[in-house]
Amino acid sequence: MTIESLGSDALERITAAGDAAALEALRVEYLGKQGSVSALLKTLGKMSPEERQTEGPKIHALRQSVTDALAARKEAIDAAALEQKLASETLDLTLPAPERPRGSVHPVSQVMDELAEIFADLGFAVATGPEVEDDWHNFTALNMPESHPARAMHDTFYFPDSAADGHSASSSEAVGQKKRMLLRTHTSPVQIRTMVAEGAPVRIIAPGRVYRSDSDATHTPMFHQIEGLVVDKGIHLGHLKWTLETFLKAFFERDDIVLRLRPSYFPFTEPSVEVDVGWEDVGGRRVLGGDGDAPGHGWMELLGSGMVNRRVIEFAGLDPDEWQGFAFGVGVDRLAMLKYAMDDLRAFFDGDIRWLQHYGFSAFDQPTLSAGVGASA
Ligand code: PHE
Repeated sequence: MTIESLGSDALERITAAGDAAALEALRVEYLGKQGSVSALLKTLGKMSPEERQTEGPKIHALRQSVTDALAARKEAIDAAALEQKLASETLDLTLPAPERPRGSVHPVSQVMDELAEIFADLGFAVATGPEVEDDWHNFTALNMPESHPARAMHDTFYFPDSAADGHSASSSEAVGQKKRMLLRTHTSPVQIRTMVAEGAPVRIIAPGRVYRSDSDATHTPMFHQIEGLVVDKGIHLGHLKWTLETFLKAFFERDDIVLRLRPSYFPFTEPSVEVDVGWEDVGGRRVLGGDGDAPGHGWMELLGSGMVNRRVIEFAGLDPDEWQGFAFGVGVDRLAMLKYAMDDLRAFFDGDIRWLQHYGFSAFDQPTLSAGVGASA
């Protein structure tokens, strides 16, 4: 076979190669160690110089054209393979996403996020404490000694008696003192924990679960509170009232929220103030806003608060002549019910997917002050 016919034959077969495997077989046949083009190259050594002068360039040109043809064909085959893959693996982005169970954000979580957003804007940090608490933090340090009648105000879930074993022992606690463990009855022990751990000044909210042995249409054994605590120099009742007013206006997204402060009693605040908020009857539904004394209006008890009792400041290891504070505690579930018009507290904790679908929030509904903390359920 002449060099020319070998060349044209090779190019023809390479162009006709259908896939990568066939092409590889041709490469071996021509350019492999035993290949026909390689064999031609080997003949150059035995040629006379004159012969090599004429045959050499032809053979080298043959090798080059075969190499080029193989590369060109390989590119074409790869492109065709990719084209075919793209054509077979279609993804229609205009199709709706398949139906999948979708979670929603529970109203309690949503409201807690809203409160964190509102108070963050006022310079409050979020603090937490344990739900399994000892009676020192839950009662004693909050000015409720063993014999104090106020302990009976809470129907407490106690754990079976156990001696102090070093768990969460606080510096202000008598060493070796017996501690009764319980499920915290309010978020107020976080006041103590924060003051003990961080000293003063303090500006925190503490949201979380609390437990009382109580169960009927409006009480569940577990519910949620949010505690607020400010400790600084020269803090007075005016600061408390302004803070509550600002928070409630932002939370209910109404400027006409009117508060009524009533004297009350909590062992850990002095004076203690119960806060009512005015409501208005709108088509048989109580909507918060307006003066509760106006016709068609009324007052609703919303939260407990007061100036932090000197004794509590002392229990927490601070000097009450230097530091004063105010505190408040409010039910998160109740806030959620009032804001989002839900009437059955028990449904909050049933885990019924239909209720969650109806009252839950999208994870994209992040409360922000700029957009209004109220989400569209
Ligand atoms: N801890 C009180 C309760 O659960 C609420 C409260 C908190 C009152 C802080 C005053 C100050 O009822």
